[in-house]
Amino acid sequence: MSYLDKIKNTAIKEDAVILAIESSCDETAASVVKGGREVLSSVIISSMTEHIPFGGVVPEIASRAHTQAISIAVERAISDAKITLNDLDAIAVTYGAGLLGALLVGVAYAKSLAFSLGIPLVPVSHIRGHLSASYLCDKDLKPPFISILASGGHTAIIAVEDYYKYNILGQTLDDAVGEALDKVARVLGLKYPGGPHIEKLAKEGQNNVKLPPMLKGKKGYDFSYSGLKTAVINYVHTNEMAGREYSKADVAHSFQCSAIDVLVKNGVKAIEEYGYKTLTVGGGVGANGYLRDSLKKVCDKMGVKLVLPEKVYCTDNAAMIGAEGYLQYLKGNFADLELNAKASVKLD
Ligand code: KG4
Ligand code: ZN
Repeated sequence: MSYLDKIKNTAIKEDAVILAIESSCDETAASVVKGGREVLSSVIISSMTEHIPFGGVVPEIASRAHTQAISIAVERAISDAKITLNDLDAIAVTYGAGLLGALLVGVAYAKSLAFSLGIPLVPVSHIRGHLSASYLCDKDLKPPFISILASGGHTAIIAVEDYYKYNILGQTLDDAVGEALDKVARVLGLKYPGGPHIEKLAKEGQNNVKLPPMLKGKKGYDFSYSGLKTAVINYVHTNEMAGREYSKADVAHSFQCSAIDVLVKNGVKAIEEYGYKTLTVGGGVGANGYLRDSLKKVCDKMGVKLVLPEKVYCTDNAAMIGAEGYLQYLKGNFADLELNAKASVKLD
């Protein structure tokens, strides 16, 4: 029987044990997730330190690092979960969005393993994965809810109407919030990835650098980080060229406020407009303490339930791919062995 014929007849199990693999950027991650909500193991091997001298992720270095780390990550995920490969019901893998060469390492590995074990291969969108991280930290979470997606590649406000139906209320018209944080960090002489360094430096500063409001006068839920980023870069360069002293901590603080406050504002506006009772966050910027504290305050005040994934499930990880992979598995969304990697995937 061919692989395809075999997986076509797969009986779907509610408590399926899924191995998830993620390799879209600089983290080689593997995780075992049971029933879509219970993380049995989560391994992340990062090549971040190799990229620091270059101020950003170097695709070639990332691909090589994935090739070296992927078997180690998977073996560790299986042993940490105290299972064997034969206990797996499916393999979920990120097929996009991300760096093509990096994604291909995970996709090729997942294909071979699924084929050799004769179990389904489930293709997962990295973006949906970020949003499904919330299912891991609140076992009772059910749609509908509003999600704030804030990562290095995406920024959006999404009405999650059911497990599969996403209504994109607004998104960034140019840079993603994480991208802007990383670029401003670089101008301030901070290391990659910039978000955590901006957060740390901001604690020593004040909100006293005047920055332009985002999309002034425009209604709706869209974002635009490019003007804000340019304003900060101009402020820094003008001061440096004039030999004027300025406080990097104040710049970091003021920029963080501007970049994050608008996420909170649009998230709250969506909750009010749609009347949903739950707000969730997905993506690396969700690890930001100022964002988390601001959301806690405002949700407490409004009586809205806030689902904040642990920081380790906000930044790239494979457990979130297992959570989303489980939803796709339930639908029988299986890939054949021609599955290819995609640099970009549609948000919805
Ligand atoms: O979700 P993610 O790990 O990768 C993408 O899918 O893009 O997000 C990475 C982004 C980077 O821009 C990084 O600077 C930002 O998340 N980030 C943070 C924090 N931790 C990571 N931004 C602000 N505060 C943080 N603590
Ligand atoms: Zn990500």
